[in-house]
Amino acid sequence: MIMEYTFDFTGKRAIITGGAGDIGKAIARQLHVQGAEVAIVDISANMDSICKEIASDGDPAVHCIPANLLKRDDVRRAFQACMDTMHGVDILVNAAGICRRGASSETFSEKDWDEVLEINLTATFLFSQLAGAEMLKNGFGRIINFASMNSFFGGLQIPSYAASKGAISLVTKSLSNEWAGRGVTVNAVAPGYIETQLNPFYRTPEGAEQNKIIVSRIPAGRWGKPEDIIGPVLFLASSASAYVTGVTLPVDGGYLGR
Ligand SMILES: NC(=O)c1ccc[n+]([C@@H]2O[C@H](COP(=O)([O-])OP(=O)(O)OC[C@H]3O[C@@H](n4cnc5c(N)ncnc54)[C@H](O)[C@@H]3O)[C@@H](O)[C@H]2O)c1
Repeated sequence: MIMEYTFDFTGKRAIITGGAGDIGKAIARQLHVQGAEVAIVDISANMDSICKEIASDGDPAVHCIPANLLKRDDVRRAFQACMDTMHGVDILVNAAGICRRGASSETFSEKDWDEVLEINLTATFLFSQLAGAEMLKNGFGRIINFASMNSFFGGLQIPSYAASKGAISLVTKSLSNEWAGRGVTVNAVAPGYIETQLNPFYRTPEGAEQNKIIVSRIPAGRWGKPEDIIGPVLFLASSASAYVTGVTLPVDGGYLGR
């Protein structure tokens, strides 16, 4: 049988949390260019201009939904705002995330523990729960979560980030186990070292030495760029991945193979 795959998202409605961030914006823009109506949920002060920039590529609509994902009421309000404007959701990309680094785990603050888990893990679960319920009604949905290489190893001085990303990998499987048989696939991507606002340190003079060590360990020989994450996410959002669910897909230039 010859299958016809397209990455045409015309008629699909996508929510991208963290859609004003470097990776989220790249994904939102590409989904929009390829036909999806998109809702961007973020706390960024640059949201308006980013939404306008994406909308400048033409139809369909782009919705700008400011929200603070640290607050559970705001998560629910933001999701409802997406429903009020798009009247449904087919694709959810949970890209919002933060990382807090402490001097050591023995002095790591409760605040840095709580806030990272709240945004990276709890908001991802709540958004998935709300979107999943809508998707299950229609018998179709694609949920793409953001894991990390820290889903596979613990790193140093980032206990809450590693805990949140490890848990993302398992909550992805958990939701997939319940929903895949009803048309909703749930997967995660695990980016490697990607040049974004999340990790400016390695591009400073102080971070240069560590940066050299990192690059020497990446088989692809370079940091990733936000664009490197687009293709894998589009694949997981498309019909081409109908039988792929519950996986955490590394997009890391081969780093985990070392
Ligand atoms: N950059 C990397 O190397 C890397 C590696 C692995 C995983 N990731 C993951 O990729 C995802 C995207 O990160 P990025 O690198 O594009 O970083 P980024 O900082 O550019 O984007 C993160 C976005 O999340 C938003 N956000 C943060 N706190 C929020 C809150 N309280 N409410 C609403 N929105 C909030 C930010 O405003 C920002 O737009 C994150 O989940 C991150 O953990 C990144």
